Amino acid sequence: MPGNTGNAVGSNVTTVNVDALPGQDTLGIAIVHIDFAPYGGLKPPHTHPHATKVLVVLEGAPLVGFVSSNQDNNPLFTKVLNKGDAFVFPVGMIHFQLNIGNTPAVAFAGLSSQNPGVITTANTVFGSDHPPIRMC
Ligand SMILES: *[C@@H]1O[C@H](CO)[C@@H](O)[C@H](O)[C@H]1NC(C)=O
Repeated sequence: MPGNTGNAVGSNVTTVNVDALPGQDTLGIAIVHIDFAPYGGLKPPHTHPHATKVLVVLEGAPLVGFVSSNQDNNPLFTKVLNKGDAFVFPVGMIHFQLNIGNTPAVAFAGLSSQNPGVITTANTVFGSDHPPIRMC
């Protein structure tokens, strides 16, 4: 079933990790189904601290990318994917997916941990309110 993308970012992730399916414990894999609203549906920059992700596009044309580490001067790697294309996001790298097509986009992804974890970058920098992060 498609997830409802009528939210602030225009995307919806359905996750099958060890919390959803305890039988995955120790198997080293999780699966997500991602729905993107037409033009602008976004999975905002985030990282999975415990897993590399391979994403396969089922429908639509998302722009995807990741930023590599400080050691490499943080280069940005991007690609517009089409139906049937796959892209690998290395473990720990901040990455995103943005639907630039005018139809909904759908992707499946496999992650190399039953508990990949997710940290949304903006939420950590701007969303912490206990206590808030103050720059001055
Ligand atoms: C994702 O879609 C499901 C199913 O329609 C819905 O219950 C859920 O609230 C949606 N999540 C977000 C963050 O919009």
